[in-house]
Amino acid sequence: MSGNSRPVASSQAGIHPSLAQVVHRHLLHRWRQPVAQHNLDAFRLCDTWRRHQGFARPLMLDSGCGTGRSSRVLAMQHPEALVIGIDQSAVRLQRGLERFGAAPANLYLMRAECADIWRLMLEADWSVVRHFLLYPNPWPKPGHLQRRWHGHPVFPQLLALSDVVELRTNWQVYAEEMGAALSVAGRPAGIERIRPEAALTDFEEKYRDSGHALWRLLSCRV
Ligand SMILES: C[S@@+](CC[C@H](N)C(=O)[O-])C[C@H]1O[C@@H](n2cnc3c(N)ncnc32)[C@H](O)[C@@H]1O
Repeated sequence: MSGNSRPVASSQAGIHPSLAQVVHRHLLHRWRQPVAQHNLDAFRLCDTWRRHQGFARPLMLDSGCGTGRSSRVLAMQHPEALVIGIDQSAVRLQRGLERFGAAPANLYLMRAECADIWRLMLEADWSVVRHFLLYPNPWPKPGHLQRRWHGHPVFPQLLALSDVVELRTNWQVYAEEMGAALSVAGRPAGIERIRPEAALTDFEEKYRDSGHALWRLLSCRV
């Protein structure tokens, strides 16, 4: 990947003024939009895979995994765990398959929409030991707050699914806003600037090579 990516441009310089109000509303009112049939089908296949691999094994989630590069690294680093990578783009997942070959046995890559899959996982009483959100789309326009994961109505379910959430982003505002949303929900979080020598994902590599500052938020429920 080339190192000529532009930094995130936004008219929003800090935390969105409506953030706390939006997060409060989502914490109070459960999101009830029906789950799409294709996501339900994808979840059922994944459930069968998980049972086959051993339901008791710790589960890690790589949401918006793109080509699944990071999912593969996590699966290799944690052979005792099961790793699930989710992405809505068949093109990106296919590109990963062509570049990296078949997934290791403890990795399941699925084409699906994250918000539906998270809700299905929760309904099925799944819990995730570590949930990675690596370079999610920033949605930098102020009017797009509700498309960012912390401004999305699924945010309470995202939090309920895992005690540990790791976000990486090249937009400092996204990390700070996620930290503020976690604080509204009573969850502590730390943010640090990272300078990874070995990039975990394609976008991390691209942004690093383009000279962007990279941010990591880690939230562990106490
Ligand atoms: C900026 S890319 C980052 C990909 C990868 N994590 C990386 O760092 O290289 C964001 C990815 O999230 C996926 N994505 C965005 N919204 C999604 C959603 N609601 N459900 C599933 N995947 C989604 C996109 O298809 C895309 O591959």
